[in-house]
Amino acid sequence: MLPPRSVTWFALILFFVSSPSHGFYLPGSYPHKYQIGDPLSVKVNSLTSIDTEIPFGYYSLPFCRPSEGIKDSAENLGELLMGDRIENSPYRFRMFTNESDLLLCHTDPLSSDDLSLLKKRIDEMYQVNVLLENLPAIRYTTKEDLVLRWTGYPIGVRVGDSHFIFNHLKFTVLVHKYEEPATVTAASANSPGVGGTAAGEPGYMVVGFEVIPCSYQHDTDSVKNVKMYDKYPTKIQCEPTTVAMAVKEKQSLVFTYEVSFVESHIRWPSRWDAYLKMEGAKFTGSRFSTPSWLLHSSPYSSSDFAPNGSTRFDTVRRIGQGGAGPDE
Ligand SMILES: *[C@@H]1O[C@H](CO)[C@@H](O)[C@H](O)[C@H]1NC(C)=O
Ligand SMILES: *[C@@H]1O[C@H](CO)[C@@H](O)[C@H](O)[C@H]1NC(C)=O
Repeated sequence: MLPPRSVTWFALILFFVSSPSHGFYLPGSYPHKYQIGDPLSVKVNSLTSIDTEIPFGYYSLPFCRPSEGIKDSAENLGELLMGDRIENSPYRFRMFTNESDLLLCHTDPLSSDDLSLLKKRIDEMYQVNVLLENLPAIRYTTKEDLVLRWTGYPIGVRVGDSHFIFNHLKFTVLVHKYEEPATVTAASANSPGVGGTAAGEPGYMVVGFEVIPCSYQHDTDSVKNVKMYDKYPTKIQCEPTTVAMAVKEKQSLVFTYEVSFVESHIRWPSRWDAYLKMEGAKFTGSRFSTPSWLLHSSPYSSSDFAPNGSTRFDTVRRIGQGGAGPDE
């Protein structure tokens, strides 16, 4: 192996050589056009914490596993160089198709070891990093009328003596309609490398990815016979400011999700702009060295969660420093 620095230089040289005129694309991250209904897969990166700085594999915790097995899924040199560990996940979407109340899985009942590890990682403020088309999911929080954005979301939160898990994810995918170069003016005809799917059919590109994590009290018994991607038996109301699902020994965890697709004016080359403005981002000067600082720069925001049934905001135990701003 070359020492990391020369690998980086090699990558940069390769990068410039291979993309002479089209600006800042990560190797392997050319626009991908999807037809309505085409499958999209979410990837997961290592669990990270600003508290410990030791990453752990996503599947070191009892999360749902993909039915095809876990595979290393780094797509480009950038991902490999930054030492991220990118793997496939079972979260699936269909392009431009809103879906809700989807069951991902229910886990085996938690052993005492699973439980203590889960609690430990929650206490250590580990967070989950999910990606779609190389874009880390953005999470918005508000603090005193300020809207802050982060990448990643906490595994869970401790409130009082209980540890709550975020087990329902509300995803938003921002998409931009792909205009066929043949039918539009030259100004928008310079996107390189778009795949050769049939011309003329409407297609979309992913230009943004957002997540709202929720802690939802599922009824474990009601999903015994529900399969992955089938509907959860009742409507799931995602309430991001309260937490409901406390983790307990011998109890299964149920994971669900929903996704909505929203058309955006963001164009493909601008899709990183939201990240460059991100709080806490240490911009190191090169736009294409994004993955590492993007994925590890987001302090856990010890934001305002309250257990189901109690008054919002005022019973939250502040957990640790490094939150979204100065804690009062
Ligand atoms: C999906 O739902 C959002 C609202 O949540 C709506 O704005 C959007 O138009 C819907 N998209 C599709 C493709 O139905
Ligand atoms: C928790 O939330 C559920 C559904 O939102 C509700 O039915 C239940 O009564 C709540 N539990 C408490 C303790 O308030």
